[in-house]
Amino acid sequence: MRALIKHHAGTELQYTERPKPVPGPRDVLIRVRKVGICGTDRHIWEWDHWAANRIPVGIITGHEFVGIIEQVGSAVTRYKPGLRVSAEGHISPGVGYNARTGNGHIAKDMVILGVDRDGCFADYVCVPEENVWPVHPSIPDKVAAVLDPIGNAVHTVMTAGVSAKTVLITGVGIIGLMAVTVARAAGASRIFVTDVDPRRLALAKKLGAVAAYHAVNDKGWIKDVKEATRGDGPDVLLEMSGSPSGIKDGFTALRFGGTAAMLGTPAKPLESFDFASHVIFKGATVHGINGRRMFETWYQMEDLLLSGRLELDDIITHELAFEDFRKGFEAMIRGDGIKVVLNLG
Ligand SMILES: NC(=O)c1ccc[n+]([C@@H]2O[C@H](COP(=O)([O-])OP(=O)(O)OC[C@H]3O[C@@H](n4cnc5c(N)ncnc54)[C@H](O)[C@@H]3O)[C@@H](O)[C@H]2O)c1
Ligand SMILES: [Zn+2]
Repeated sequence: MRALIKHHAGTELQYTERPKPVPGPRDVLIRVRKVGICGTDRHIWEWDHWAANRIPVGIITGHEFVGIIEQVGSAVTRYKPGLRVSAEGHISPGVGYNARTGNGHIAKDMVILGVDRDGCFADYVCVPEENVWPVHPSIPDKVAAVLDPIGNAVHTVMTAGVSAKTVLITGVGIIGLMAVTVARAAGASRIFVTDVDPRRLALAKKLGAVAAYHAVNDKGWIKDVKEATRGDGPDVLLEMSGSPSGIKDGFTALRFGGTAAMLGTPAKPLESFDFASHVIFKGATVHGINGRRMFETWYQMEDLLLSGRLELDDIITHELAFEDFRKGFEAMIRGDGIKVVLNLG
């Protein structure tokens, strides 16, 4: 089968041939139709510090996909060949405290598809039966291919709780833009956003943000957001930049007693963070967001998609043939590509 692998401890991925995987007794073998390129895959492509320390050389990359079940293992009871599915890419060990108490998304010894074991940038992928998500017939393939990051946005928005609240999203990249449309659908009263890329700011406004600020060039934007929110600041912060200044600005703007949901992941430990004023004296509630709740987030996401209220078309900027993966990564690195989907046919 065709596969995109991390062929060496350096940049890029290699297009190659690999044997078709054989499903274990409790695995499902899926013929992949479409995949999404994630920011994580870009880190693996660029071979940054995180990737160099985490990714085993030789692995098939990718974790966002939709496909058709081709074959099921001997012990699989729930699914049959022919079903259109996606899958949760975080594979919980099923044992240990969090896995057994409804918090599988933060289970110890989690294994991630396309990060710790062979992923979906290939004609076939194997996943455990527990991770399979049958896709509702009304959800098109191109959306089903990117349920993973939509799920990140849904998990963040639903954890913070945005109904009838003012929301600030710092960083409207792939997931931040998805969070704009999710927060709107979930009843946010007004959404303010920041980024450092004017194209993303413009798209966030199109998706329903009432104001979009350049985090660096629009001096005084925090004052403007506070003035627009009775002088208090927004009720909710969704931090989606992972940038130290995005995090600091977000907490500076957040109102006293507000709630912050933190998804953006700093590349290294923050050098400084004013915990006393940003969290303690502010009386802020801070949630760390990891992945998607299994599978509460997936049900919420399906219902939000079926409501027809999510606008995702403009966020999926590129649909390319699998062979043109290089163009996809280059578009993301240049910034004109937001969510890139590859078709395997
Ligand atoms: N916690 C999780 O489970 C999880 C899952 C996926 C991604 N992530 C992290 O979430 C973040 C967002 O992911 P993504 O795929 O949308 O990445 P992305 O690169 O598409 O988005 C990040 C955005 O932040 C913007 N930005 C940079 N500096 C900024 C600043 N100072 N102020 C405001 N915006 C700024 C960038 O221009 C970009 O548009 C990343 O840090 C990623 O590593 C976390
Ligand atoms: Zn992803």
